[in-house]
Amino acid sequence: MPKVSIAFFLVASIFGLGGMAWGGYMGALEDFTWRDAHAHLNLVGWTTLALMGTFYSLCGAARPKVLSWINFSLSTIGVMIFVPGLAMIASGAPDALMFVIPGSLIVMLGMATFLASVITVFIRKPTQ
Ligand code: HEM
Repeated sequence: MPKVSIAFFLVASIFGLGGMAWGGYMGALEDFTWRDAHAHLNLVGWTTLALMGTFYSLCGAARPKVLSWINFSLSTIGVMIFVPGLAMIASGAPDALMFVIPGSLIVMLGMATFLASVITVFIRKPTQ
């Protein structure tokens, strides 16, 4: 498995464990204020990054090396800005948009680089 896939799974599982613990904390307090932030940490963090890591481990030699690491960096940093921003919105914090807007744009840029990787692999892979 390429190092970048292990990096995706490492960060994805940290986000997943954090998201689940957050869910348990909400359940224990019966306070679901942060449900949206919890859901996005699990879905944009754990699920999306694990899927991206899986794709890069299946690419073989066709994997676009630099693009895969740019994808990893953008998607990881995006979650780390976007999800706290969602939690701040739910808590009514005044500066929440300063995190949610750039965070969501970086998350989208991460997905755009993933799409570019998929297209690159599609072009590079010989027709079987
Ligand atoms: C131990 C694991 C987990 C616990 C304890 C947990 C707990 C919770 C709680 C307490 C809520 C709020 C429920 C409510 O609004 O009434 C919630 C909502 C949600 N959770 Fe989890 N969760 C866990 C794992 C996950 C995972 C792995 C995912 C996705 C990959 C996920 C996705 C969601 C979604 C989509 C919602 C709905 C959010 C909304 O209504 O806006 N959760 N969870």
